[in-house]
Amino acid sequence: MNTPYYQYDIALLRKTLDTIREETAGYDYKVHYAIKANSDEVIVKTVAENGFGADCVSIGEVRHAIKCGFAASDIAYAGVGKTDDEISEAIDLQIGCFNVESLEELHIISEIATSKNAVANVALRLNPDIDAHTHHYITTGLAENKFGISLHLLDEALMLSKTLPGLKMRGLHFHIGSQILTMEPYKLLCERIKPILDKAKNGYGLKIDYVNVGGGLGIDYENPLVNPISDFKGFFNTFKENLVLPQGSQLHFELGRAIVAQCGSLITKVIYVKRGLEKQIVIVDAGMNNLIRPALYQAYHKIENLTSKSSDRAVYDVVGPICESADTFAENLTLPVTSRGDILAIRSAGAYGQSMSSHYNMRNDAPAQYVGL
Ligand code: LLP
Repeated sequence: MNTPYYQYDIALLRKTLDTIREETAGYDYKVHYAIKANSDEVIVKTVAENGFGADCVSIGEVRHAIKCGFAASDIAYAGVGKTDDEISEAIDLQIGCFNVESLEELHIISEIATSKNAVANVALRLNPDIDAHTHHYITTGLAENKFGISLHLLDEALMLSKTLPGLKMRGLHFHIGSQILTMEPYKLLCERIKPILDKAKNGYGLKIDYVNVGGGLGIDYENPLVNPISDFKGFFNTFKENLVLPQGSQLHFELGRAIVAQCGSLITKVIYVKRGLEKQIVIVDAGMNNLIRPALYQAYHKIENLTSKSSDRAVYDVVGPICESADTFAENLTLPVTSRGDILAIRSAGAYGQSMSSHYNMRNDAPAQYVGL
């Protein structure tokens, strides 16, 4: 296959899904897959076949989820800027729940649903003001943030969701950030949820049957081969131990990265090894248009040379061909001596790799190849 391409290990994906099922067995938990992490059809269909729900953030993702086998009723639809057309179509499709991100949106969903004589299921996405201690581009739960409804508007939001026509208030939604590796922020989240549930029930007589605590569980980018599966036990135990829900309500999760990141590698070929002043620069045929995480978040991805037979090592920068200095996958990386034609694997690229790719410099997409089907 021509490089660059994404290689997906579907056997690892299945093992990951099995682990999640085992860790949630016996609890009224529903795990949604955040389609934005990777919308590859084989991946999305595999997740759908395993009984998960879908977390979508555009009508394109909602349509894709349904096409790949998710029941509309298993779809949660979040996003700060849902347009009227998107809301209208999602109501027609009878999706499971709108996760509503502002009071303004609540009014619009109510108006659109009423005009169709329909009822839209809604949950309030609340901003619990928790610092997830992750990259500032992917922390989302702080008080003043474009996501979610700030807690100081909670009373107004609860009152509106109780009184506006065309709405069925199902519950509450939270999402505090991404690539979270300690359980402290989730414990804190559980503590924040309790008084909110009390207020909804006792203050407003609302019956909450849906609490969605979002996603964000991180993965081991340093040692992907040693730790290919995230700490789902620790993650779900945190909720089992810290969050008591009202009778009859279901706890929902929206995991993206932890489901798909480790099953994907970006496979790329070395075009040139260029001698610099002090170091050598490995120029590969994948660019930031294929995997933007290192350029956008200074993210680390482990890189391995799959073909070098050399037992000698050297220090390299690994860069793509795009006309931007940020198009760099690694700096000062020690690899076996690397030559033109060698094949490199950029690991942990299954989440937010292909799905964030672009055509910058009029470059092609890296297609998908599957192993372990
Ligand atoms: N739910 C909501 C409402 C979200 O906004 C997200 C991710 C998720 C669930 C899934 O989060 P996960 O389990 O994958 O952490 N492009 C960035 C990550 C952006 C995450 C956006 N929201 C990256 O490459 O690190």
